[in-house]
Amino acid sequence: MRLLFGAALLLVVLAWAVSACPASDREALLAFKASLHEPYLGIFNTWSGTDCCTNWYGVSCDPTNARVADINLRGESEDPIFEKAGRSGYMTGTINPSVCRLDRLTSLILADWKGISGEIPPCITSLSSLRVVDLVGNKISGRIPPAIGDLRRVTVLNLADNEISGEIPASIVQMSSLMHLDLRNNRISGGIPADLGKLTMLSRALLGRNQLTGTIPSSIATIYRLADLDLSMNKINGWVPEQLGKMPVLSTLTLDSNWLSGKLPASLLSNAGLGILNLSRNWIEGEIPDVFGSNTYFMALDLSHNNLKGKIPGSLSSAKYVGHLDLSHNHLCGSIPIGEPFEHQEASSFANNDCLCGNPLKTC
Ligand SMILES: *[C@@H]1O[C@H](CO)[C@@H](O)[C@H](O)[C@H]1NC(C)=O
Repeated sequence: MRLLFGAALLLVVLAWAVSACPASDREALLAFKASLHEPYLGIFNTWSGTDCCTNWYGVSCDPTNARVADINLRGESEDPIFEKAGRSGYMTGTINPSVCRLDRLTSLILADWKGISGEIPPCITSLSSLRVVDLVGNKISGRIPPAIGDLRRVTVLNLADNEISGEIPASIVQMSSLMHLDLRNNRISGGIPADLGKLTMLSRALLGRNQLTGTIPSSIATIYRLADLDLSMNKINGWVPEQLGKMPVLSTLTLDSNWLSGKLPASLLSNAGLGILNLSRNWIEGEIPDVFGSNTYFMALDLSHNNLKGKIPGSLSSAKYVGHLDLSHNHLCGSIPIGEPFEHQEASSFANNDCLCGNPLKTC
């Protein structure tokens, strides 16, 4: 009897010991909270009391050791507190380096608060359990920590829609678990690391709307899981690598508004899996390769604002589907082919060429 009671007591004590968060994690969270200001929803009012694993909004712990595992704070969410406040979230302040003391953290999500500023604390690269880093939609500035490559387990790195500058750290190619990289709409300059192809798990590489220079590394074409590549609205020059057209699952390729030159690789147009191709506003020259066929299926094919010359290839008539087609602002000439893919296109898709004619433009 006494033994049973003792065992039960021990269990209760153990359960309590692993369910309450350690004081060191609580203090790190309170220092993190003290650097942020969230005036409309009051989410940080829930960050009080001794057990940070229970009812602290956006905080969750690993049940086996009661260490803080996730900070998940999203400024745009379906959560009832947003409905009650009748608005989306807004938060100012900075990310306190105290977050780096949460050494079992697996996700750091501070997304769409619009006003969080300051730098990403470089010490986050010591958080070796991190899997998700999502700081999208704030005013974060400064550089991406140079040692970002230490984060070998991170699968999602989303820093889009901030004010981040500096270059993409060379170490990024060591983030061997990275599947989703989103750096869009920042002020990132310099080149794309030539060995980006080392990131073999990548399925989305979104680097559009920055100030990137240099050429498109052909190593990217070796990332066989890559489905979405966005390098649009940068200052990237050189040729479009032919190999991009041979990628097995690439479905969206947006390279528009850059300084790309050279010819249009035939492989891009004959790749049946590529559903969206935007090369608009570059310096692409030469003829459009006549390589379309019955498995051509483009939701959008935008080649507008380039230096393309010659005829619109007749093989485009045999395409299974072409949704939005834009060949305007080039130097194309001759009659627009007849066929289903051309029937629903507007005249503006062919406007401002040298001498195109036929439906939907004037008859030849
Ligand atoms: C392609 O890119 C251009 C320029 O960046 C943009 O204006 C256009 O809407 C894009 N086309 C499609 C089909 O999204």
